[in-house]
Amino acid sequence: MAKSMIVGSGACIPKNRVTNDMLSRIMDTSDEWIRERSGVETRYYADPGSSTSDLGLAAATQALETAGISKEALDLIVFATMTPDHFFPGCGGLLQAKLGIKNVPSFDIRQQCAGFLYGMQLADAYIRAGMARTVLLVGAEIHTGFMPWTMQNFDYMYGRTETPPSAEERAWNSRFRHLTVLFGDGAAAVVLQGVEDGERGVLDSILYTDGTDYDRLYVPGAGFKHRPYVDEDQLRRGDHIPVMDGRFVFKSATTRMAEVARQILERNGCTIRDVALVLMHQANRRINEYVQKALGLTDDKVIHNIQKYGNTTAATIPLLWDQAAREGRISPGDLVLMVAFGAGMNWGAVLLRA
Ligand code: ACO
Repeated sequence: MAKSMIVGSGACIPKNRVTNDMLSRIMDTSDEWIRERSGVETRYYADPGSSTSDLGLAAATQALETAGISKEALDLIVFATMTPDHFFPGCGGLLQAKLGIKNVPSFDIRQQCAGFLYGMQLADAYIRAGMARTVLLVGAEIHTGFMPWTMQNFDYMYGRTETPPSAEERAWNSRFRHLTVLFGDGAAAVVLQGVEDGERGVLDSILYTDGTDYDRLYVPGAGFKHRPYVDEDQLRRGDHIPVMDGRFVFKSATTRMAEVARQILERNGCTIRDVALVLMHQANRRINEYVQKALGLTDDKVIHNIQKYGNTTAATIPLLWDQAAREGRISPGDLVLMVAFGAGMNWGAVLLRA
């Protein structure tokens, strides 16, 4: 049976670099608080009009180039995002059209921070079953759409206007500060291909969902439970902005990520010492330091990007992969472990031999 190997990757980060000090221009926060509590130093925002599928296209194009594979060779496109261009149709089909190809099954998966790992398992299953040989898997997000402040506040933050937020606007922006400071926009993609040479490729994946506590991290409004699905009252209440119980998510993430990492290693007869690199979802640097310590991982086996990009949800792990691959930190035969936890709640791990 064929195994699935990542044969190329690509990334796209939008151009607007936003520092913590810039955010403190429009809400009550500080560089010190954000760095200490989350590890985020900067994040990047896409301009209005630039969509998740646009970022996905740039990342996918680079991944295909790196892999040396033509887009016509694709058998399947899987697009992981929680910030799609539209409610429907999903970004997979939009990406297919933007790539200029036709008749390739293309769909989205909505598993938030665990989206890329759900995509990895799915792509691997298609390849193992012989239903696809070459799969494009994208993780992309434009979180800026969730930012609750006005376009004029954006301009003030960027230093493009002299008009600061009113006291009322500043209070509104500050209400969501525990959430907004964490996130950034970005995309990354990998091309997976079936190989027959035995040892290398995806070895195993373990995924979990527990919907019991979905309302600890979710968007309460702007959904089809409401009639109409979005109205002015919802917007006034801020129901279109995610609600997040940070402490609950923090605690669950540290426990679940360490647990599933241990489980996948044990199931494959490995120890953490056998692993060359661990790619952890980037929600909070402190979460990952906790997991690192719990697993007994040395610094040289862990790579972070939260300080630079913030939390890019479905894009964090493929961004880490792309960076590690470009820096020559992944050698053929290396054991690589991917672990994520996020909204849903969804979590999991993928173990592969590069
Ligand atoms: N700037 C300044 N002060 C702030 C900010 C901010 N940006 N945000 C919150 N505070 C204040 C609070 O108001 C509170 O003040 P008080 O003590 O006067 O009441 C104080 O800081 C402490 O707030 P906590 O929420 O208790 O801070 P905590 O240490 O828990 O850190 C954080 C908050 C960073 C959100 C943390 O809980 C966290 O990272 N949780 C996990 C988040 C996560 O993983 N999310 C996953 C999202 S990914 C996905 O699936 C979509």
